[in-house]
Amino acid sequence: MTDEIDYEIDAEDLPKRMERRELGSPSVIVDDVHITYRVFGARRGGTTSSKTSLINRAINAGRPDTGPITEVHAVRGVSFVARHGESIGILGTNGSGKSTLLRAIAGVLPPSKGRVFTSAEPALLGVNAALLPKLTGERNITVGGLALGLSAKEVRERTSSVADFAELGDFLYLPMSSYSSGMGSRLRFAISTMQTPDILMIDEALATGDSSFRKKSTERIEEIRDSAGTVFFVSHSLGSVRAMCSRVLWIEKGKLVADGDVDEVCDAYHDFVAGRSNASAGASLR
Ligand SMILES: Nc1ncnc2c1ncn2[C@@H]1O[C@H](COP(=O)(O)OP(=O)(O)O)[C@@H](O)[C@H]1O
Ligand SMILES: [Mg+2]
Repeated sequence: MTDEIDYEIDAEDLPKRMERRELGSPSVIVDDVHITYRVFGARRGGTTSSKTSLINRAINAGRPDTGPITEVHAVRGVSFVARHGESIGILGTNGSGKSTLLRAIAGVLPPSKGRVFTSAEPALLGVNAALLPKLTGERNITVGGLALGLSAKEVRERTSSVADFAELGDFLYLPMSSYSSGMGSRLRFAISTMQTPDILMIDEALATGDSSFRKKSTERIEEIRDSAGTVFFVSHSLGSVRAMCSRVLWIEKGKLVADGDVDEVCDAYHDFVAGRSNASAGASLR
C-alpha cells in the first residue's frame, strides 16, 4: 500500500543520469514561505483556535449552515534557492504540500507569510493543467500556445511538431475527452514546453508516460536545463527523479526535511515510506 512510490518503472528504461554542471545565478528564491488554506464550513479537524472561532461565530451569525473556518497550514516555513540549470525533484507523501508550494512559486497562491522571488514567470505543468476536454488536441495546442505568449503564426508553425512529440496521430483532430490519460499527459507536456520556459514546474504530469516518451521528455528537460532554465519535478517515481534531477527537496507535512544530493535524499525517502507502510501493515495485523 505505497502509492507514495511508483515501482513500475524499470531502471533499464531510464536514460542515463543527468550530468552535473556548473550552476547559474538564482532563478527562484523561496524565503520562509508559509501557506494556509482557509476552508469555509468545515466542522471537524483543523487548527481553529477559540479566538478565531469566536470571530467565526460572529461572522456566521444568522447563517446556520456555515460552520467555522478551518485553517490548513499546508506549507510551514520552507526556504531554498534554485539556480539556472538545476533540475530539482520534489518528494513527499500525499498531502505534504508539494503542489501547494509549486502553486506559490507560480504565483497562483499568495504565501500567508514569507516571500517568493522568481527571475521569470514560471510555467506550471500539473495534472490539471488548463487544457479543455471538449476541444480537439489541435485547438488545445492553439489555446495553450497563445497562453504561453506565442504568436498565431508561431503556434501554426509548431503545431505539427507538438502533435508529433505527444504521439497523437489522428487523435489530434478529436476532442481531448477521447484521449487516454497517457495521451493527455503527453500533450500537456508537449504544449508546456512548446516554448523553452525559464522555469518549468512539472507536478506529477509525466507519471503515465511510457518509456520512449519518458526518454524524449527527459531529453527535453535536459534541453531546458542547457538553455539555463530551472526545472521542478514532482513525481512518485523515484526512478524518474533519480534519472532526471540534479537535486532533491523532500517536503513532509509542509516542512522541508531534506535538500541535497539525489541519491541520499531518494534513499532516505524510500526508507521512510517503506518504514511507514511496514508500520501500518503491522498495525492492521494486530
Ligand atoms: N484548495 C485547498 N483547500 C484547502 N486545503 C487544501 C487545498 N489544496 C490542498 N489542501 C491541503 O493542503 C495540504 C497539502 O496539499 P498538497 O499541496 O496538494 O499536497 P501534495 O501535493 O504534496 O500531495 C493537504 O493537507 C491538503 O488537504
Ligand atoms: Mg500534489
